[in-house]
Amino acid sequence: MSTLPLLPPVDPSVDHALRLIVAGASTESTCATDLAAGPWNFDAVPGYGPGSSMGDVIPTGAPRQGELPVAYREADEDELHARIRAAKETLGDRVVVLGHFYQREEVVQHADYVGDSFQLATAAKEHPTAEAIVFCGVHFMAETADLLSGADQAVILPNLAAGCSMADMASIDQVEECWEQLAEVYGPLDAADDEGLVPVIPVTYMNSSAAIKGFVGRHGGIVCTSSNARTVLEWAFARGRRVLFFPDQHLGRNTAKAMGVPLEQMPLWNPRRPLGGSSSAELQDARVILWHGFCSVHRRFTVAQIDQARAEHPGVRVIVHPECPMEVVDAADEAGSTDYIRKAIAAATEPTTFAVGTEINLVRRLAAQYPQHEIFCLDPVVCPCSTMYRIHPGYLAWVLEELVAGRTPNRITVTADVADPARVALERMLAAKPPVAVA
Ligand code: 13P
Ligand code: SF4
Repeated sequence: MSTLPLLPPVDPSVDHALRLIVAGASTESTCATDLAAGPWNFDAVPGYGPGSSMGDVIPTGAPRQGELPVAYREADEDELHARIRAAKETLGDRVVVLGHFYQREEVVQHADYVGDSFQLATAAKEHPTAEAIVFCGVHFMAETADLLSGADQAVILPNLAAGCSMADMASIDQVEECWEQLAEVYGPLDAADDEGLVPVIPVTYMNSSAAIKGFVGRHGGIVCTSSNARTVLEWAFARGRRVLFFPDQHLGRNTAKAMGVPLEQMPLWNPRRPLGGSSSAELQDARVILWHGFCSVHRRFTVAQIDQARAEHPGVRVIVHPECPMEVVDAADEAGSTDYIRKAIAAATEPTTFAVGTEINLVRRLAAQYPQHEIFCLDPVVCPCSTMYRIHPGYLAWVLEELVAGRTPNRITVTADVADPARVALERMLAAKPPVAVA
């Protein structure tokens, strides 16, 4: 059995930790030693690259990144940082760089704003005069920023291969097909009963494609984030008999369970099986139909890790993300979004030991930021979100220097037919609960 680190790391960089592991200079272990290599080694290869999501099946239509010019592949860390700083200085207010909480340290240090996916989309909206928004996150986040930013603003994803394996688990074709099958079970899906409730309201997690958000907008549904999922489900139950929740089964199950929905009334929808694998009677009885999706990063957390943390660190406070499996959320002291985790640690007044069940880049950054606490990741294996990790400083330097040269690389554009209903679904969420202020 591996042991948990006794002290928080002084250096928050996951990249540095991986290099030490690969060099044999660290006793830590990683899920994939390939992570220490440049992401450009994987851009042309179908797949999510090394790391926790590499076992997931990438959809055939997922975007691929073209070859990064050799000057960026061969530049060392110091040169890349100098080039990024110089390009940012030249561009000034014309560009805003956004970095997600899970982004690697070497990129986050250049971000004008660091936050969760929704806070960053809000930050994009709040800079209407910036010509370019460089989004150092994953594809669905850049799409959301494009939805909320001005039409003449370019949202740029530095590496197009930075997708999200969970978002890719619900394709628009599969969701349309599911909707048709549900209509066979429930009858017309837009027909309200005598209590004014329609048979089913679609709810999508922010971690989904713009096409899915558009689908939800067209069918009376709504978007949620991990911080407002309960409010959104309450909104949906005020309008429908049941909810179709996608793509993350765990966020859906954890939230609905906390609201008192029995597990027997939460069937799983497997898009590869007729009626998702349930009977018509089970679907009639359902309150929340859970799409068969998950996050490969958060699925790594286990109850055994929590037991070990409690045994080795009496009094430890265990906080996990609601994308973790239900058993893990149940065994933890608290569960909440990335921003909840950050705020909970920031608010602790006494030195505390925290075992955190979320992505390693955020956990190590928090450990470095709050040295008065002992903060460690529940998973002893260094295994970042491999898709987010595809954004290396080399790509950030490349897109910024392209902008300086008057070119706009890797622009993420959501077409109007999708964007209009997707915005409706996002606006319903905003009306259900106001946005959280940008950090
Ligand atoms: P946030 O919505 O908190 O940014 O989380 C995004 C994510 O990908 C969690 O796995
Ligand atoms: Fe997607 Fe999971 Fe990575 Fe979040 S942590 S971007 S859900 S793969």
